[in-house]
Amino acid sequence: MAKKTKKPWQGRFSKKTHQFVEGFTSSIELDNRLATYDIWGTEAHAKMLEKVGILTNSELRKVLSALKKVENKIYSGKMKWNHSLEDIHMHIENELIDMIGDTAKKIHTGRSRNDQVATDMRLYVRDEIIDVVDSIIILQKKIIKLAEKYSDSIMPGFTHLQVAQPVTFGFILMSWFFMLERDKERFVYSFGRVNTCPLGSGALSGSSHKLDRKYVAKLLDFEGITDNALDSVSDRDFIIDFISNSSILMSHLSRFSEEIIIWCSTIYNFIELDDEVCTGSSIMPQKKNPDVLELIRGRTGTIYGQLINILTIVKAQPFAYNRDNQEDKKALFDCGDTLLNCLSAMSLSIDSIKLNKDVAKMASKKGYSTATDFADYLVNKKVPFRDAHEIVGKAVAFAIKKNLDLNEITLKDYKNFSKLIEEDIYKILTVEGSVNSKKTLGGTSHGEVIKQIKKAKKLVSTKR
Ligand code: ARG
Repeated sequence: MAKKTKKPWQGRFSKKTHQFVEGFTSSIELDNRLATYDIWGTEAHAKMLEKVGILTNSELRKVLSALKKVENKIYSGKMKWNHSLEDIHMHIENELIDMIGDTAKKIHTGRSRNDQVATDMRLYVRDEIIDVVDSIIILQKKIIKLAEKYSDSIMPGFTHLQVAQPVTFGFILMSWFFMLERDKERFVYSFGRVNTCPLGSGALSGSSHKLDRKYVAKLLDFEGITDNALDSVSDRDFIIDFISNSSILMSHLSRFSEEIIIWCSTIYNFIELDDEVCTGSSIMPQKKNPDVLELIRGRTGTIYGQLINILTIVKAQPFAYNRDNQEDKKALFDCGDTLLNCLSAMSLSIDSIKLNKDVAKMASKKGYSTATDFADYLVNKKVPFRDAHEIVGKAVAFAIKKNLDLNEITLKDYKNFSKLIEEDIYKILTVEGSVNSKKTLGGTSHGEVIKQIKKAKKLVSTKR
């Protein structure tokens, strides 16, 4: 551990802090990653103190150049972290005092660690949102590329994991695209709520000094300032927003993972993943396992866990700041790191997918997947839908009994179910016919999928 240090709050105490307590209360091992933000925030605060006459210009220059040195020391790995200095804020202040003495002692005027940490965390979340949005866009572009390649490749669509109706792989992929688009929107909307500056709120009630909060906010590229000091130091909603948006996104990634895992199982064999994104078994030489996707699915638990963590941290806290809030870092950092990793892993996986077109198409014919088209055919012949459903249900039961596909039933046999059935039924029963009949807006017909891809391309190229 580093040299002996003096705690800034030491004045009131007559006994030294218990060594265990120093370790227990310290957050430096986690929050040292806020260093850039803390330095930036301190710079802005110092500039404002000079603007309102609390620091002289030469004092400000001293502070700014010392801050640069602290920054260099941290990024060159020379900084020694010390539990007795609790957190990044006290470390930086202590370094400044070591370097420039009394001038540095003025820096905390009108500032509390409560508004300081709230500011750092907002700055961190802001950057994290930008990274997440960028990563979502990368993933969306990979999805579009794959959807274009397989825009008319037929595959079974499932409900209850039973073959339901034929669709195209491009269509399925585009459903993923639009889920991600909503995820992206949620992060983008939340940005505005994070982007207000709490600095100047002090410990909880504001400051008696004539601080220029708007100036600080401008220096830190915030859109404005928070409205109420008590709220500013108590609020961790912006972290809940981030983790909750991450949780919804992870629910989607886990579902995409699950789909791909099922499709590449040897029993399904619809798709092949590249060796690069798979791993083997230590005992079964033949195995090629989709572990990357399983880990994305598994790490969904990490992020949901952090959502419960942050919700529980804020639950029933009395106003304003309590040390419970220090735990927000674990929740946020773990969530952000895991999420960004999973987004990269998903992009890699998507990029490596090859569709086994023939297998997927064959599978789409199973399970009487064109039965609804058959019913619609009768509806077009003026049979009420419920009656058509019944007729087709009986024909399917007949086919199951005789071990036939629907297109293997003879027209003569069909006539027993309905006199209205003609030779043209066989065209209706093909999976191609089925897919391309779904021309409703947003449907699986080739034309509609192409429209979706076109819209998607526009959405990922729009500048925000
Ligand atoms: N390390 C603390 C945190 O992360 C900083 C704020 C400390 N404030 C205090 N009143 N003890 O929350």
